[in-house]
Amino acid sequence: MLLAALLLVAAGTTSAQGTCKPGFLNTVFNTGTPKHASWPDPIWSTLTSYGIQNFITFSLAPLPQNPLFDPAPNTPARSNPTLEKARIPIVMDPRDTAAAQTLLASNNTPPYLELFNEPDYSYGGATPLTDPVAAAQNLSPLVSAPHPHTTFLSPALANPNDPNWLPTFFDQCPECLSQIDIIAMHIYEPNIDYAIGNITELHDRWGKRIWITEFGPYNGGGSGCTFDQAGVAEYAKTIVPMIDRLGFVEKIFWNCGDAEVADVCNPSLTEEDGSANAVLEALGGACGFGGKGGSNLTVRGRGRGRGR
Ligand SMILES: *[C@@H]1O[C@H](CO)[C@@H](O)[C@H](O)[C@H]1NC(C)=O
Ligand SMILES: *[C@@H]1O[C@H](CO)[C@@H](O)[C@H](O)[C@H]1NC(C)=O
Repeated sequence: MLLAALLLVAAGTTSAQGTCKPGFLNTVFNTGTPKHASWPDPIWSTLTSYGIQNFITFSLAPLPQNPLFDPAPNTPARSNPTLEKARIPIVMDPRDTAAAQTLLASNNTPPYLELFNEPDYSYGGATPLTDPVAAAQNLSPLVSAPHPHTTFLSPALANPNDPNWLPTFFDQCPECLSQIDIIAMHIYEPNIDYAIGNITELHDRWGKRIWITEFGPYNGGGSGCTFDQAGVAEYAKTIVPMIDRLGFVEKIFWNCGDAEVADVCNPSLTEEDGSANAVLEALGGACGFGGKGGSNLTVRGRGRGRGR
């Protein structure tokens, strides 16, 4: 039986369960990425067929309230209950904390809530820097509020192993240390040894399970990634099973699920029409997901078929 099962895996047979831990593969939708006419329904259908389960995007409020998510500019985004259910909300910065208190007291509590997005890095000036002492003061009442159905994620730092930020934050807010069960981190590191080393270092420091809420080899320029699409696909195929095998990383969120515009090291998982590309095929394949049939990769890509 076991031998037969191994042979099936070797032959590339995919299962509905996948080979990584359940819910391991997830993605990111960026507010700044162009939303093509296909967004979100065909893209989400494609992504989920490759085992993507949840997504992060940069808001606490539901998507329909955010016009940045609609292909037609300046209109409210379309409502999609399945998509909305898969969204992990973020308390972006101290300006969201009061609304998060209201959310926790409502009858619509989210199963997970990330507490601050990159307080240590102001991306394009769009998000404010928050120092760890101010963050501790701001988040203390929120983490202390009853939250029987919600698991908290730590602030997701751009530099998660910074020797000062998280240690000062937890020192100033012991209730944060006890109430936050998951350490969130962002990592864009094309060097696989460095990536695994930094993920392990963060876990060794806090001893809590980890979600990599932004992941990929490319972060918009600074990571030094020079891969072509085949290189990005190879990176995904190699590193994703390694991270899964670490055991303490519960979920990774590949950035990004959209059709991003980038000349080099393009991390997009989908094409503008919502179809899968070679990177998504590699990412899903790394966890034993084969996608739905009928992909046009053979004609679209480099003449590669779908079988491996
Ligand atoms: C973490 O990544 C940096 C490069 O960004 C690297 O210099 C360092 O050695 C890595 N740390 C570990 C423990 O691998
Ligand atoms: C594949 O190509 C056919 C014909 O060009 C098109 O109708 C179909 O929508 C494409 N499917 C995908 C998944 O791209």
